[in-house]
Amino acid sequence: MRILFVCLGNICRSPMAEGIMRHLVAKRGLSDRIAVDSAGTSRYHLGEQPHPKTLHVLREHGIALQHAARQFIRADAQQFDLLVAMDVDNLSEMQAVLRGSEYKTHFLLDFIPDGPRGRSVPDPWYTGDYAGVYVMLDQACRGLLDHVVAEHLPKM
Ligand code: 4NP
Repeated sequence: MRILFVCLGNICRSPMAEGIMRHLVAKRGLSDRIAVDSAGTSRYHLGEQPHPKTLHVLREHGIALQHAARQFIRADAQQFDLLVAMDVDNLSEMQAVLRGSEYKTHFLLDFIPDGPRGRSVPDPWYTGDYAGVYVMLDQACRGLLDHVVAEHLPKM
């Protein structure tokens, strides 16, 4: 099972989600069954490490992350089972890249149980609120992992 998180720059939200998700997956002993990656719809920060504040907030929660920013490409749809966007702009950019194909895209925050649908993760590049985004992403990733375990992993 392969999950790809997508934001705009691939230095703030999607790598933070990648780090959180990989950490949750490891805690459940599922690292050999669930792979996690992230990408951005833009080319603004290609090859760069995650934003220092992203790395800082992850480290505060005991999570280490190594990731080089890359752009979301059409071939990602073949490589990943779940394509998960942070906001409505990411989702429409992804759908433009994937146009004509059958692939489904998802909003990360839709995986928060009983939450409102179609909500965007506010971009901390603009708001500065990396800690607040961490809380949101952690909650959504827990819901996403429960969903993946219940719906996607072959029963053990
Ligand atoms: P991200 O945040 O999409 O969460 O990685 C951003 C990072 C960089 C820019 C915008 C958003 N930028 O315009 O360079």
